[in-house]
Amino acid sequence: MEVGFLGLGIMGKAMSINLLRRGFKVTVWNRTLSKCDELVEHGASIGETPAAVVKKCKYTIAMLSDPSAAQSVVFDKDGVLEQISTGKGYIDMSTVDAETSLKISEAIKAKGGDFLEAPVSGSKKPAEDGQLVILAAGDKALYEEILPAFDVLGKKSFYLGEVGNGAKMKLVVNMIMGSMMNAFSEGLTLAERSGLDPGTLLDVLDLGAISNGMFKLKGPTMLKNNYSPAFPLKHQQKDMRLALALGDENAVPMPVAAAANEAFKKARSLGLGDLDFSAVHETLKALDHST
Ligand SMILES: NC(=O)c1ccc[n+]([C@@H]2O[C@H](COP(=O)([O-])OP(=O)(O)OC[C@H]3O[C@@H](n4cnc5c(N)ncnc54)[C@H](OP(=O)(O)O)[C@@H]3O)[C@@H](O)[C@H]2O)c1
Repeated sequence: MEVGFLGLGIMGKAMSINLLRRGFKVTVWNRTLSKCDELVEHGASIGETPAAVVKKCKYTIAMLSDPSAAQSVVFDKDGVLEQISTGKGYIDMSTVDAETSLKISEAIKAKGGDFLEAPVSGSKKPAEDGQLVILAAGDKALYEEILPAFDVLGKKSFYLGEVGNGAKMKLVVNMIMGSMMNAFSEGLTLAERSGLDPGTLLDVLDLGAISNGMFKLKGPTMLKNNYSPAFPLKHQQKDMRLALALGDENAVPMPVAAAANEAFKKARSLGLGDLDFSAVHETLKALDHST
């Protein structure tokens, strides 16, 4: 199967390498074109523009940072829209809001193409291991056709119905995750400042009902102040912002998420946006110092 892949960031690189390893023919494009070179070593071809990739491939997958990037790649000059046509499918796996997804879907369909949104749950390591959870919505026939690729990228794919449902599900998941990360950070800081060993706190947490993969994975690195990015903090804050907007639309009070968003914003203002989202820990430690 031949696919195009737009966006070779942390996630897109790992995902396209997986597809290549499992025998897919992959044509890649990235805004910073030099990032394509590593993929060529794994057997990929390069498309000079998003339009060139779509022209060559029946299916094109995108994994881009945010709503503005997702729209730019579709609507700008040399973008996806210039070459999408009947018989071609566009699958956007970026985390965006439902409105962005709908806007892209309508434009693709107006040109005769098929569209699927398919944001993912899981981070760098699950992307490398093909263990993502895929939250797809849109054209059901395209979903069925692209399943062989989803089976390589993920451990489970959900088909959630109409466009927008995948985006919303992803935002709800990441809103919960961002709030949890803040509570976890506060707990680690509180343990340390009150004279406890935070390493022991990790052991205690791991044995109880609130044990989870995120605490297990991030706890040890946070205690070492290691924030090498798996999920960049700027993207987590984008997801909190979009989830809060979804809350506004639906009149859902979200005081916990709103507070977590403030902490992520503070972290961005301190220049921590490109570090892992667990670097919000530094913000909370700093807040603690200031009191
Ligand atoms: N990392 C995770 O753990 C994780 C997990 C689940 C979902 N996600 C979501 O997956 C998406 C990608 O995340 P990531 O971690 O791979 O991000 P990343 O490493 O920051 O990569 C972002 C990608 O978007 C491209 N891009 C940014 N602005 C652009 C623009 N205006 N036009 C064209 N391309 C543009 C970047 O190109 P350049 O190389 O030229 O900058 C890069 O290829 C995001 O929506 C994120 O929320 C991430």
